[in-house]
This record gives sequence, C-alpha cells and structure tokens, in this order.
Amino acid sequence: MALTSSQNNNEIPNGKFSEGALWNPDLYNDKHSFVFKFGEDLVAVLNPQPGERILDLGCGTGYLTSVIANTGADVIGIDNSMEMIANARTAYPQLDFQVQSASDFYFEDRFDAIFSNAVLHWVHEKEECIDCMYKSLKKPGRIVIEMGGRDNIEKILKALQKSLIKHGFPENALTSLWYFPSVGEYTALLEKRGFKVTFAVHYERETKLNDNENGIKEWIKMFGSAFLRGIDNDVIESILNEVQNNLKSVLYKNEHWYADYKRLRVIAVK
Ligand code: BEZ
Repeated sequence: MALTSSQNNNEIPNGKFSEGALWNPDLYNDKHSFVFKFGEDLVAVLNPQPGERILDLGCGTGYLTSVIANTGADVIGIDNSMEMIANARTAYPQLDFQVQSASDFYFEDRFDAIFSNAVLHWVHEKEECIDCMYKSLKKPGRIVIEMGGRDNIEKILKALQKSLIKHGFPENALTSLWYFPSVGEYTALLEKRGFKVTFAVHYERETKLNDNENGIKEWIKMFGSAFLRGIDNDVIESILNEVQNNLKSVLYKNEHWYADYKRLRVIAVK
C-alpha cells in the first residue's frame, strides 16, 4: 500500500471530523457508547465477507472496526482524532488504525467496501470526502454509510440556540457545526461523482442516551462544546440546565433521556 504523506506520522491532517467536539475517548466509550452500539446494525447491512478489504471511515475508538474484523474481513480504521486512534490501537492492537482526514485520504491498495457510521455529518468538505471514497474503492466496490440526516437533533439544537440567545450569546447560537443533508442532497453528490445509489433512506431513530440523569447536558458537552466556546463555566452550567429542563417534556421518557436523531443511510456502488 502506498502511503500519502499524512499517513507516515500522527499529525492531524487538514480534516474536519474531529473539529468542534471534545474527543475524550474514555468519556466516549463510557457515556456515549450508544453511537457505536447502534452501528452494529449497519455492519450487518455491510455484510463483510472473509478476505474483503474494508475501510472504516471515522472509526473512533475502533469498536465497529473490530466487529468488522471478526467476520474475517481485512479492515483498516481511520480517524483524524489522535486520541481516538491511540485508544483504538490500545484496545485492538492486532488491527490497523491510522490518523487520517475524511476529506483527504487515498489508498492505492483499494477497498472492496467503505463503511462509515455517525461521522460524515462532521465533514463539511463533503465533495472532497466523496471523491476520496470513490478513488479508494475498487470497481466494483460499495459504500455503506449512515450519518445525521436533515433535521437531525432539531429539538436539542433549537433549545440550545434559544438559551444561548437568551443568555446573551447570539454569536454562539449561530455556530455551524454539522452537515445534515436530505436524501436528495447527498445522493445527488454521490451520483455527480459517479456512484450508483442503490439504497437511501431518511428515518427517525430516537436514541436512548447512556446518562439517565444528565443525558442532554452530557451529550452537548461531548458533541456540541463548540457552541459553548468563550462562555464561563458557571454560565455554561446554567445554560445547559435550562436546555435540559426545557427538553424534559419531549425527550425524557420512562426515566431515560433520548436524542431526537434522524438518520440518513445510503448504499452506493462504484
Ligand atoms: C449524530 O450521530 O447524529 C450526531 C452525533 C454527534 C453530533 C451530532 C450528530
């Protein structure tokens, strides 16, 4: 396999998918494991075959990479968070993990399939990312991806923006952190690059959060910390308490917190 210049070291290349979030691997594994637990369903859709060469794009702490590897496939996990990759390497030392950007990667030794769960909504350079996927796939080859779709977490987002404005932080409320496309938007980009889209669905999946007490607060601290930049800690606490209280009637059910996730799942072939 030929390495791009960024593959030889552990520096974060110019990519986007960890920007804006506090990627604390232990916290991620402990309080946000729902992210990759749900992804097991997507691995079933991928249906990896023994010996297939597969890329796990945005592998995080490597759990799904290991699930794919357990099928006998030959898998590589990439992520542009050094912390996540270090954690993945410790947890699964037998597997290949590399620090790479989702919008700037290339593997000369191409893949039979590219898999990505809950990552691509962080990638603002979507055309570049799609181009990287296309170039790194064999022909025939497939991508099996799932990300936040149009209107994802709109209840959480609106409540957070409302409280930020109320507390005097309208600029923070304008933070543009994620890309949640519709089916039409994303499949058009894939088709433009040459992919044939064979399946696409946008569906609601309210997602139970791990923390029963402060699920929404923990979710925002982990994934939405960019909205809180420059705000004093005590004010952040007031804002987050208010957001969580305001969401109680809609996202707290049977003593559990839920996030109002909407997923975009796509299968496409080269
Ligand atoms: C998601 O999986 O939909 C998601 C995760 C973190 C931040 C935003 C969206």
